[in-house]
Amino acid sequence: MPALPARPIVILISGSGSNMAALVEASRRARWGERFGAGVVAVMSNRADAAGLAWAREQGLATAVVDHRQHADREAFDAALMAQIDVHQPALVLLAGFMRILTPGFVRHYEGRLINIHPSLLPAFPGLKTHQRAIEAGCRFAGATVHRVTSELDHGEYLAQAVVPILAGDTPDTLAARVLSQEHLIYPRAVEAVLAQA
Ligand code: GAR
Repeated sequence: MPALPARPIVILISGSGSNMAALVEASRRARWGERFGAGVVAVMSNRADAAGLAWAREQGLATAVVDHRQHADREAFDAALMAQIDVHQPALVLLAGFMRILTPGFVRHYEGRLINIHPSLLPAFPGLKTHQRAIEAGCRFAGATVHRVTSELDHGEYLAQAVVPILAGDTPDTLAARVLSQEHLIYPRAVEAVLAQA
């Protein structure tokens, strides 16, 4: 068993977890352990069927599921999630396609340690259906933003952004794929920069 990192990282996902995999792979390739004392230790999801969980398990990472449907309200869900996360005493909590709105209490608890990736060029298109809205608005460019999390949805200091063109004939799916390939580059880079600063 490798030694536990001094600066544990917990990743939260709801779906395929491709950003999570990009972060885990970058952390190994770029030796975050040796350079920053940091490493991904656990992946958690609000959905038991999140495809990324199986990948995380195969990598030997701890996993946990906290099902939002089994909690009476957001506060109860967030409290249960915090309890699971805090087992690992994380230096960073990374939201990677985690599709739940977090309570102010949760955000305060992880203040300065909580980072998200959002599939638009913020401040344009916070919220959902970002690619469809960018195409419908006639935008020529779309992208993604890595940002610190505050209690205001999709706000907080921007740590990195990537821009891609919107091409004639793009659908939300073709655009999402183009943006996602950039997300996989900027999220690990942004986290590495945060680790290098602290
Ligand atoms: C990514 O595009 C991410 O930016 C987006 O969900 C996708 C998750 O893909 N996040 C949000 O929309 C957050 N509101 P992944 O599970 O393959 O990383």
